[in-house]
Amino acid sequence: APMSWAGADDVIIVGGGLAGLFCALKLAPRPVTIVAAAPLGSGASSAWAQGGVAAAVGLGDSAESHAADTIAAGAGIVDPEIAGLMTREGPARIADLLSYGVPFDRDADGRLSLSREAAHSERRIVRVNGDLAGREIMTALVAAVRRTPSIRVLEGFVADELITEGRFVTGVVARQLGDLRATPLRLASRAVVLASGGVGHLYAVTTNPVEARGGGLAMAARAGAVLADLEFVQFHPTAIAIGQDPAPLATEALRGEGAILVDRAGRRIMEGVHPDLDLAPRDIVARAVYEAARSGGAFLDARDSVGAHFAARFPTVFAACRAAGIDPEHEVIPVAPAAHYHMGGVLTDANGRTSLDGLWACGETASTGAHGANRLASNSLLEAVVFGARIAEDILGLMPAAPAPAQASALRVVAGSTKPDDATVAQLRRTMTDSVGVVRDGARLRGAIETINRIRRDARQPDLRNMATTALLVAVAAERREESRGAHFRSDFDQPVEALAHRSTLTLDGALAG
Ligand code: SIN
Repeated sequence: APMSWAGADDVIIVGGGLAGLFCALKLAPRPVTIVAAAPLGSGASSAWAQGGVAAAVGLGDSAESHAADTIAAGAGIVDPEIAGLMTREGPARIADLLSYGVPFDRDADGRLSLSREAAHSERRIVRVNGDLAGREIMTALVAAVRRTPSIRVLEGFVADELITEGRFVTGVVARQLGDLRATPLRLASRAVVLASGGVGHLYAVTTNPVEARGGGLAMAARAGAVLADLEFVQFHPTAIAIGQDPAPLATEALRGEGAILVDRAGRRIMEGVHPDLDLAPRDIVARAVYEAARSGGAFLDARDSVGAHFAARFPTVFAACRAAGIDPEHEVIPVAPAAHYHMGGVLTDANGRTSLDGLWACGETASTGAHGANRLASNSLLEAVVFGARIAEDILGLMPAAPAPAQASALRVVAGSTKPDDATVAQLRRTMTDSVGVVRDGARLRGAIETINRIRRDARQPDLRNMATTALLVAVAAERREESRGAHFRSDFDQPVEALAHRSTLTLDGALAG
């Protein structure tokens, strides 16, 4: 029988990325337990974000303009109310991040310096030291969490199941990473916040850390939660194709500074594809790179545009290239599309509430409706902090704090490798990349559903079962949307259909019913 933690927790947050830590800090001094697979600061996609946080903080910019860009990028299915409140609350959340010690870049006059990314009509991305925003934001928040006594952190534990009583979520079951025989911990609580990240590692080629494999989504689905927009997986066009898993990212900001995409013969890939060329919407660039990569190779050429400034302006990308023996000042960089961000997730309302009582979700695990079919660059960290804060406010308003748990110590387990490397996981990830990837069609999706469902039914390991459950849900949602919209492209239905311009919802029972 699972071992019970001494005393019931008040609030449990599953996930140690930006959304989870921000929510925990906003709940302080109310007692919170964070369950995190990796030591805080590593293992979270947030820490790898090379862009920054989008917010209308510049002179002449407005939340309305930011919301309009967000809605346009989302290809007809963004919830305008959600986009409105997210962009209105953005500047206040940037102020919060500054107060937690995030050293956003400033210009000579001391104002936040802002950069531009594709499909933003203004300069509105706050950054840190070129491409290090994610790492610096997480470093500051981890330090803030460590000095907040009301926050208890369980590191080295993966939550893989929700405890429910009827429609009420009353806790989570967590297992020590890498030790299947260890007794699971049963953590009872009055509120559970899922902030466990995305699904990138369900794909063979991804920019996401290994922890991003859809665990939170699967837990919520098995407990009966309603999920939304699962078919919308964003593929980043320029992961560095050097056979590394996860694939290092070459930030879109390189193209913002003039880097161009070329094929093996040196011809520009985006010429004749879209008037905005290399800064066209991410899904369009991803499909063009996908085609080029299949017929000979796709490359990012930053020699003329970035050249000698490469190391100073893009230290993370530079280091990844050099580690692979590529000198990006003088050589082109091989690139391929990679699973990058999940627009879909557990359906939530404006307060981050899911369809189950006692369960909230924020960050990439959630589907708030802010991103629609195609997320705008640097809106992900924004969404994480806006809804992390809203959830904290909702929980604080809803119920007074329970007495602190008897034993408020932190628990840290030094885990072995977190990387599931068996043949079944490889087969699952290969199936997702080949058949539920950049370009989809009904026949391959149905084949994938069969393969994934077999893996799911045979899975005895909780982690594999969760991976297969989430993969199945994504594939079923993709099979059901018979049109192309944003990041979801079907070669057998290659146009958008006006009547389908709405969000989709799904439950696990609904998916299994066929
Ligand atoms: C990038 O830096 O290219 C990624 C930014 C994002 O995904 O928002």
